[in-house]
Amino acid sequence: MKSSEIRKTFLDFFKGKEHQIVPSAPMVIKNDPTLMFTNAGMNQFKDIFLGNTVAKSNRISDTQKCLRVSGKHNDLEEVGHDTYHHTMFEMLGNWSFGDYFKKEAIHWAWELLTEVFKIDPEYLYVTVFGGDKGDKLDIDMEAYNFWKEIIPEDRILYGSKKDNFWEMGETGPCGPCSEIHVDIRTAEEKAKVSGKDLVNMDHPEVIEIWNLVFIEYNRMADGKLVPLPAKHIDTGMGFERLCMVLQGVRSNYDTDVFQPLLQKIASISGFEYGKDEEKDIAMRVIADHLRAVSFAICDGQLPSNNGAGYVIRRILRRAIRYGFTFLDFKEAFIYKLVDLLTNEMGVYFKELVSQKTLIEKVIHEEEQSFLRTLAQGIKKFEAYIENQNNDKKIIDGSFAFELFDTYGFPIDLTQLMAREQNWEVDMEGFNKGLQQQKDRSRKAANVETGDWTYLMDADTKTEFVGYNSQEAISHIIRYRKVTAKKKAFFEVVLDKTPFYAESGGQVGDSGYLELDGKKYKVVDTKKDNNLSVHILPELPENAEGEFKAVINAQNRLLTTNNHSATHLLHAALQQVLGSHVEQKGSLVNPDRLRFDFSHFSKMTAEEIRKVEQIVNKKIRENVTTQVYNNIAIEKAKTMGAMALFGEKYGEFVRVVEFDPEYSVELCGGTHVGSTGQIGLIKIIAEGAIAAGVRRIEAITAEKAEEYVNTQIDTLGEIKANLKGVKDPVKALKDLQEQNNKLQKQIDAFKKQEVQNIKNTLNASKEDINGINCIIAKVNLDAAGAKDLAFALKAQVENLYLVLGYANDGKAGLTVVVSDNLTEKLKAGAIIREISKEIRGGGGGQDHFATAGGKNPDGLDKALAIAKGFAE
Ligand code: SER
Repeated sequence: MKSSEIRKTFLDFFKGKEHQIVPSAPMVIKNDPTLMFTNAGMNQFKDIFLGNTVAKSNRISDTQKCLRVSGKHNDLEEVGHDTYHHTMFEMLGNWSFGDYFKKEAIHWAWELLTEVFKIDPEYLYVTVFGGDKGDKLDIDMEAYNFWKEIIPEDRILYGSKKDNFWEMGETGPCGPCSEIHVDIRTAEEKAKVSGKDLVNMDHPEVIEIWNLVFIEYNRMADGKLVPLPAKHIDTGMGFERLCMVLQGVRSNYDTDVFQPLLQKIASISGFEYGKDEEKDIAMRVIADHLRAVSFAICDGQLPSNNGAGYVIRRILRRAIRYGFTFLDFKEAFIYKLVDLLTNEMGVYFKELVSQKTLIEKVIHEEEQSFLRTLAQGIKKFEAYIENQNNDKKIIDGSFAFELFDTYGFPIDLTQLMAREQNWEVDMEGFNKGLQQQKDRSRKAANVETGDWTYLMDADTKTEFVGYNSQEAISHIIRYRKVTAKKKAFFEVVLDKTPFYAESGGQVGDSGYLELDGKKYKVVDTKKDNNLSVHILPELPENAEGEFKAVINAQNRLLTTNNHSATHLLHAALQQVLGSHVEQKGSLVNPDRLRFDFSHFSKMTAEEIRKVEQIVNKKIRENVTTQVYNNIAIEKAKTMGAMALFGEKYGEFVRVVEFDPEYSVELCGGTHVGSTGQIGLIKIIAEGAIAAGVRRIEAITAEKAEEYVNTQIDTLGEIKANLKGVKDPVKALKDLQEQNNKLQKQIDAFKKQEVQNIKNTLNASKEDINGINCIIAKVNLDAAGAKDLAFALKAQVENLYLVLGYANDGKAGLTVVVSDNLTEKLKAGAIIREISKEIRGGGGGQDHFATAGGKNPDGLDKALAIAKGFAE
């Protein structure tokens, strides 16, 4: 079976069991502070398990793009070195939300594997949870008994909490699980050691393929388990591993999921796959990381210097570095593989195809810049080795850490380069640096989140009334204390709220909660999964009371104008630049709007003007806004709604339309009643923020008016200063030209002046004791005096020259002595003496010295003393 048939067979099987098939959620997670990337198929259903959202269908199945590179589930270091771990992988899954439980999950998994996929039952082992004292949990006999109905008992093994109690992260939904393992070794090997003894022993050919989780608990921040209101099923099967088993190969990389990529890497590197383990590892790393990075970019996460973006940058750099070190790739190459990847995986994941150009551009640019950094680091490394008088040939740990920290050199690269020169790395020193850095960042993050305190029934849902009202009568459902960087605040969930929680680029509302005449500030409102969380610096005394919740209406109004303007702008950009323009990010606040979009060149002034004109025209048309709540996604698409890849949408969406022919977008934000309210848009900046991604900043309404007025005022002032001219632009240009001409003339005059002075001084030189003395006051500045002094020094032998000059109430002295005279006359010593007279100070060398001072009246005396030295 080809991998595409395997995927389809899985989904069809669960469709046959009345599951609804849904698309993969984006791999990049927004609105969940505890998770950067989807690390399991169940992530997108976390809210349903916790009871924050009601499931639209209680049986679901899909294939989910997952990334396990940070937090609790992190496989990065294994990837490439073994044959069955990945950063990005597909997880096939089926879910029951309060519907079927262990029995069906177990029986169906068995039916699919052994009857549909026809895996020999003799190859299979299963595990069940063996209980845990700490958590006060018993052996999962229920699961054991269901398995006993279909598999001999000697193939059912008990597993520890580590292997058989599945948790998404430090907190959240969790429960005991049963894993299915498959033994694909040869009969000969099986005869020697039983597969039973190799389950969960990191054997590459006795591996877990499917995990059936029986979600029953919520793990709280204090470590306690709290039973959930209902019981759920969450299963996850490694797609790539299943392909390996069904295609009869021994490595995930030998399946048709990876082979085309590996063959392409082999062909562009000129090395063959399967000949040399070191090179094979590098090729596997590159093939794996290419998928992870491409999907991340596609889902909206560009590589960057912090957070999720930094994780992606590190994965890409790992691939670049393996290529660089083991496959001799000294120039960018990974971006060349994107084409093949999109051909292969784009059939199921269509988002890859539409984002292909962007993915290529971003990867290409990252590669080029990291290769430059690598080259610099290597230079630094070579210089280090050359300059060390170090017989022991040990690279200092702090230097290795500098390479790691500043040049992105993983320690194994430094070790490898060291070994090539017969050097070693002081690992203790390196680890110390690393630990210190970790401690620093831990201190910087330092967030403590307490558990929720419930004041109302845990199932109470928040009603958002903020589309139509600015206030509401509210009660607190629950609250918790959060301490970040030693500052404490409270997160509060209300039963009814007018506060818009930050999402879709629109900032959260601020305002207050009022009770008994006392106002409690709400400084921000954020989304935590599906919860609207109000941020309060202070918890109300009577938290169980009835509050009046009021938003800051002025800020909301300005924000709303900017949000609607963003939609109008998006549509205008597509009209002017083309349909490749896709939203890559946005920020909408009371002051301005920021819109990031894919486009590959700088916008011209005409394009910007045109976009602005189209938007302003739409504003003047005063188009009435149409909002459609709860539209089925299919319907929204036929309405032409612009769906953004990387956004997670439920089946029912909200559609915001400004003229069905002009702008139709999926959006949860707040919008104007009709476009006229926006008043005016002005684009104030346009620039690049990453390869292939541009950013526009714009302002609307009052802010745009203020901006225009400031510009007009500036122009007015210019005109007033240019008194009476008709064309101020031409007048300014003329002035500039004239100014340049005059400057040139002045420069020429100055040159001539110096020449004249030089000639006069040369003629006036006085012989004192065989020394050519020139001691004079000149009408020059310090720079002019210096030039003159050196010109005379070149011309006159045996010279002792002292120049005095005054400008703008300040005095200066310059002394020059011919080199053959510096034994007797030292310019530096002389200047120190004579500068006293001008109430200043200075210094210099034996042949040249200068001083500045506050007393021009003392110049004559200074020069007289200077003459005395010659005499
Ligand atoms: N959540 C479980 C896992 O990731 C099963 O889907 O293994």
